[in-house]
Amino acid sequence: EDTYEEECDYLFKAVLIGDSAVGKSNLLSRFSKDEFRFDSKPTIGVEFAYRNVHVGDKIIKAQIWDTAGQERFRAITSSYYRGALGALLIYDITRRTTFDNIKKWLFELRDFANPETVVVLVGNKSDLRQSREVEEDEGKTLAESEGLYFLETSALENVNVEEAFLVMIGRIH
Ligand code: GTP
Ligand code: MG
Repeated sequence: EDTYEEECDYLFKAVLIGDSAVGKSNLLSRFSKDEFRFDSKPTIGVEFAYRNVHVGDKIIKAQIWDTAGQERFRAITSSYYRGALGALLIYDITRRTTFDNIKKWLFELRDFANPETVVVLVGNKSDLRQSREVEEDEGKTLAESEGLYFLETSALENVNVEEAFLVMIGRIH
């Protein structure tokens, strides 16, 4: 293993939010370690991962925070959002309730996050075509009306995961 630590020019904090089991932790492990787990456990409290990202001639150290979708397992909300410049707001395209709850997560973002925070709406599990309950156009329309970026991803098949994080990180500069 390479232990060499790249110097970074910026530290970028971003948060993952969305209902339980939409795939927050797997999107993060795919982005930070290129790993996916079928048997991942619900997150308890807060977890972090880092990845250095090159944007133009700068190196940005992305520090991504991941917490539980379930209320009783969540990290303290105000400290979770403090200093975040980006957020991935994630739902599961196979469960409409997770899409309906995006409104709820947007209220929380507006209460706790900096108004400048770059927010990307993410419809995850795009590989589960047979079980789709939310059409891509519905995600797109919601994103347009709320002024968010939008992508569908698959942490399993590694589709658009890199793109979702990079849209968010790249917007800052
Ligand atoms: P909490 O920590 O409880 O908030 O859940 P989470 O949003 O972190 O979900 P997690 O990443 O633990 O994934 C939940 C389940 O969905 C796991 O069984 C994953 O294997 C599965 N999963 C995550 N992403 C995908 C995906 O892109 N496609 C498919 N088919 N399954 C996925
Ligand atoms: Mg999790």
